[in-house]
Amino acid sequence: MICSTRGGAKIVESDNIIFKDVPILSPNSDVLVPNMTFEIKPGMHLMISGPNGCGKSSLFRILGELWPATGGTVYKPSLDKIFYIPQRPYLPYGTLRDQLIYPDLVSTQKKKNITDEVSKFISFNFYSNFNKFSKKSDSVT
Ligand SMILES: Nc1ncnc2c1ncn2[C@@H]1O[C@H](COP(=O)(O)OP(=O)(O)OP(=O)(O)O)[C@@H](O)[C@H]1O
Ligand SMILES: [Mg+2]
Repeated sequence: MICSTRGGAKIVESDNIIFKDVPILSPNSDVLVPNMTFEIKPGMHLMISGPNGCGKSSLFRILGELWPATGGTVYKPSLDKIFYIPQRPYLPYGTLRDQLIYPDLVSTQKKKNITDEVSKFISFNFYSNFNKFSKKSDSVT
């Protein structure tokens, strides 16, 4: 079943991950790999290695549909059956406190006289409302 033809490549739902003649391009359209072809079956392990900038992460951006592929066919499981861990974390480095007060720093919070108790209160309210909002969105979609 063809799910989409976004960017010129066909995306087909499949248990196996298959790239068939898929060009790997950089965002400036530099050709990193002219035609990539490989197949990974469930249970297989594959390590992709290569020098910096050769296109390893770009391959995963195509697989995750972050970037469109310009040609060929990508066979892959549906988005709810596949999980990606990014090369670099999206969260700032640091403690749980650093995540909760971001973009403030502990020193900024001290200057503003915001104690841990106030931070906890703000975070609790933020996440409670966020949960309510996500439940509402779930029921709408
Ligand atoms: N967000 C971006 N915007 C513009 N160009 C990018 C972006 N991300 C990567 N590139 C360029 O695309 C090319 C491939 O990058 P990619 O991140 O796929 O390489 P990589 O093999 O994963 O490298 P590394 O080993 O450093 O992780 C590089 O030339 C890089 O400069
Ligand atoms: Mg990378």
